[in-house]
Amino acid sequence: MKALIAVLPGDGIGPEVVAEGVRVLEAVAVRHGHQFTLQSADFGGVAIDAVADPLPQATLDLCLRSDAILLGAIGGPKWGGSDPLRRPEAGLLRLRRELGVYANLRPVAVHPALRSASPLRPELLVGVDLVFVRELTGGIYFGAKTRDAFSASDLCSYSVAEVERVTRVAARLARARRGKLTSIDKSNVLETSRLWRETVTRLMAAEFADVTLEHALVDSAAMHLIRKPSDYDVIVTENMFGDILTDEASMLAGSLGVSPSASLGDGTRGLFEPIHGSAPDIAGRGIANPIGTILSVALLLRHSLGLETEAQEIEAAVYRAIDKGLRTADIASADVNGGRAASTREAGEVILAELTAGA
Ligand code: IPM
Ligand code: MG
Repeated sequence: MKALIAVLPGDGIGPEVVAEGVRVLEAVAVRHGHQFTLQSADFGGVAIDAVADPLPQATLDLCLRSDAILLGAIGGPKWGGSDPLRRPEAGLLRLRRELGVYANLRPVAVHPALRSASPLRPELLVGVDLVFVRELTGGIYFGAKTRDAFSASDLCSYSVAEVERVTRVAARLARARRGKLTSIDKSNVLETSRLWRETVTRLMAAEFADVTLEHALVDSAAMHLIRKPSDYDVIVTENMFGDILTDEASMLAGSLGVSPSASLGDGTRGLFEPIHGSAPDIAGRGIANPIGTILSVALLLRHSLGLETEAQEIEAAVYRAIDKGLRTADIASADVNGGRAASTREAGEVILAELTAGA
């Protein structure tokens, strides 16, 4: 198949991990006879440096023409200035909004070999296989902001339609998995959460009566996620709760470095990125974990290009590599390879070798 894929390496470790993701994409193309046209563009801090805009028009146009977008990470201390619109993060929010990718899928599956890399006791991690569906283009992230010398405010608002569309994505996913959906809100305090809960309840009864629905308050869910994470299948929640809970949940998998994400809208075009940030403290040292990006490439093939076999091949290659002892610094442990950590490039090589060797 033919596809145009926009590649936005971004800042910090972004370019390092994206380089490995691109190698994997190219290997898949050769192996299966696909023609992927990869086109890179400036986005984030690098774009601020180049043209004083984190999301230049040319980059946005490229993304809108593409079948899928692979993103590294953006941001860093260099661009922490006082003008909020000139921050890299503002570019990311605008890109999500312009692409209409309202559903952010963040799967957390704990590979048995990585249980010991998690700060949680390994027995708590048995059977953990959950997916967050975070609402991504609404809520407090996008509400009106005010600021004067003495006070500030951020408006949080949701419409019924916004809640319904993201709930449908989550419920379809739950139906294809273990048939359980947990909706997380703060309906004992927030009006948006009361609307959220009522809307989810009504929609699920009308369209997904076969999927088990449960509601949870965000504070207690944050606790339960650590106490018994294997209870969850699919979790749907609003933008900011999802931001916070998915960083928490990533520690179940051992490291922020191994978690991928897919941001999807109504069509097939999606934005795919590891959930970690630009990690300025380790940027340029070639030690970042490329697995989050490589697993994001698998999600890209699955969700935007409909290439399920290719996606599974990548996932299998990553897990075989981990089983055989691949460990980057973030997941290194004394019991494997005497604690010796692979570089970003070495990790990419090992995964590519597994991919081309096949099962
Ligand atoms: C994420 C990040 C972003 C967010 C930041 C960089 C704007 O934390 O993707 O989770 O808050 O959505
Ligand atoms: Mg976040």
